[in-house]
Amino acid sequence: MHSIQSQNSNPNTNNQQSLVSISQLSPSDVTLLLRAANKFSEIKTTALLNDKTIAHLFFENSTRTKVSFDAAANRLGAKIISFSASQSSTKKGESLLDTAKTILAVGCDAFVIRHSNSGSAEFLSQNVAVPVINAGDGIHEHPTQALLDLMTIEQKCGSISGKTVMIIGDIVNSRVAHSNIKLLKMMGAKIILCAPNSLLPQTKTDSQILFTTNLNEHLPKADVVMTLRIQMERDSATLFPSLSEYVQFWGLKTEHLKLMKKNVVLCHPGPMNRDVEISSELVDHPSSIIFKQKHNGVWMRMAVLSFLCAKEKLISFLDNGVTS
Ligand code: NCD
Repeated sequence: MHSIQSQNSNPNTNNQQSLVSISQLSPSDVTLLLRAANKFSEIKTTALLNDKTIAHLFFENSTRTKVSFDAAANRLGAKIISFSASQSSTKKGESLLDTAKTILAVGCDAFVIRHSNSGSAEFLSQNVAVPVINAGDGIHEHPTQALLDLMTIEQKCGSISGKTVMIIGDIVNSRVAHSNIKLLKMMGAKIILCAPNSLLPQTKTDSQILFTTNLNEHLPKADVVMTLRIQMERDSATLFPSLSEYVQFWGLKTEHLKLMKKNVVLCHPGPMNRDVEISSELVDHPSSIIFKQKHNGVWMRMAVLSFLCAKEKLISFLDNGVTS
């Protein structure tokens, strides 16, 4: 895994707000984004971004995230420039920044970027003068996933503040976990991280987080249980003895329902490996909000795109119902 160092060398450094990390948001920003996303889920389409062009730069595979950013931009009336690395000049050695500058020269008002290297989104945001939205960079962060997870959890069980969220799985290599931990802490949740020790963060000194390798002992405390995929493409399978032992000790199974709270909420960012990190039966169980998460991805990405590209219009739309 290579990390791109930030080179803040460009005089045109981005003064626009970007969303690279959850750390860039305040609790009131999050509240506004949740309000906007819930509003968009009711009205489905608006013309808030009908004067904008958004470039979607996908250097790494994606199903959910790409499709929902496409749908979100469409529903806001924006034009989309869709870029897939496999069909581009990056194959001929062109750098990320030159690729972005080429797209800027054609004309675009914001970038959505997914990249396998941690730091790519931050690097881009520091070197272009339009907002950059991180759609997942290496093992670093995936802020829109954490925001849509929060939206979906709160729809099911009310305010997250004071609730306990247990995240089970590949914490160390999961950008989803990293963004979720920051967001859940900011919004006042208690967190339990459960995995083999080698998949847990090395530093375990955080008053809001309980670190454990013991699934059964701590499951009864959780209001929300989030299971995560093992990041095979990031060599995570070398961090525990075998997949069958992982499933035996850390896979969430139907029999765990006996240990969990009656009204527990089960979530997963996808893609899922049924019967590995979570049993197939639990994926489709009434406690699961997994398919609702995918649905809410569109509304939360509409909220993030309009928050970054047309914040005043968004606020006026939410307060007065007018788009201009
Ligand atoms: C996640 C990702 O790409 O980080 N998927 C997603 O965007 N919903 C999670 C994963 O790949 O495990």
